[in-house]
Amino acid sequence: MADTASGQILRDKVAIVTGASSGLGRAVAVALAGKGAKVAMAARRMDRLQEVESVIANSGGVSISVKTDVTQRAEVKELVRHTEKTLGPVDILVNNAGTMYYTLMKNVHEDEWEKTVDVNIKGFNNSIGAVLDGMVKRGKGHIVNMSSDAGRRGYLGLAVYSGTKFYVEGLSQAMRNELIGTGIRVTCIQPGDVTTELFQHTTDTEAKEKYDVHEKTKILEPEDVANAVVYAVSQPGHVGVNEILIEPREAPL
Ligand SMILES: NC(=O)c1ccc[n+]([C@@H]2O[C@H](COP(=O)([O-])OP(=O)(O)OC[C@H]3O[C@@H](n4cnc5c(N)ncnc54)[C@H](OP(=O)(O)O)[C@@H]3O)[C@@H](O)[C@H]2O)c1
Repeated sequence: MADTASGQILRDKVAIVTGASSGLGRAVAVALAGKGAKVAMAARRMDRLQEVESVIANSGGVSISVKTDVTQRAEVKELVRHTEKTLGPVDILVNNAGTMYYTLMKNVHEDEWEKTVDVNIKGFNNSIGAVLDGMVKRGKGHIVNMSSDAGRRGYLGLAVYSGTKFYVEGLSQAMRNELIGTGIRVTCIQPGDVTTELFQHTTDTEAKEKYDVHEKTKILEPEDVANAVVYAVSQPGHVGVNEILIEPREAPL
């Protein structure tokens, strides 16, 4: 039962957050646990997950860490199996793990294109594939997909990344409509620039100098985005928050 009086509005809910070892996923995991959800956190860096686990435990929350490479379908299936055995059936998937490289198409950084597709598309699919059947059988569930404002507009220097986020948007729109009548909700969160480690992977200095402006204006904090996720998953059952576009005030779409 949700305990709204104490603010534990997600008490008894089980959530999986992929990419919880840093940035948005970390903030989302802490926020969901703060509202009473039991959270399974997935990523490749266990030391980082365990640090988040301590933060959550120190605030009286419940979480587990599961080493997972989302590009490996079997590992994501095991993440869900282990979560269900340890915490219970999954109510919420925050499909957040992702990567991004500023790069110009003409510079042909094909390895980076491939890594972006592997995590942002294949890993994204693997995570949905691992939870959806159970949610359909139980007649409830919420899939929160971490899209981007780059899923609404193709950004210069981010062509492949934008393409992956258009994929997230297209799949989410179709899936949301396909799942009418099943009790499952699908939300896309579309943040603009947020202070995370996402910007550290770029090797294409020409693209970075031309188009990466994240240090030039006040951008979002991970907690701003986590608040949007909490809002989406806290609405009454008949409400579908289909998308939330959240931008730095000084950098609108
Ligand atoms: N920061 C922004 O400005 C911004 C804006 C819009 C949307 N987003 C989206 O937000 C999401 C999170 O990004 P972030 O900004 O928080 O970046 P981040 O700090 O770099 O976090 C990325 C997370 O994804 C995980 N990850 C990457 N590859 C993985 C893999 N193969 N398997 C499992 N986990 C993997 C990383 O964990 P490990 O390395 O430990 O595996 C890390 O926890 C992404 O989908 C991104 O596209 C970010």
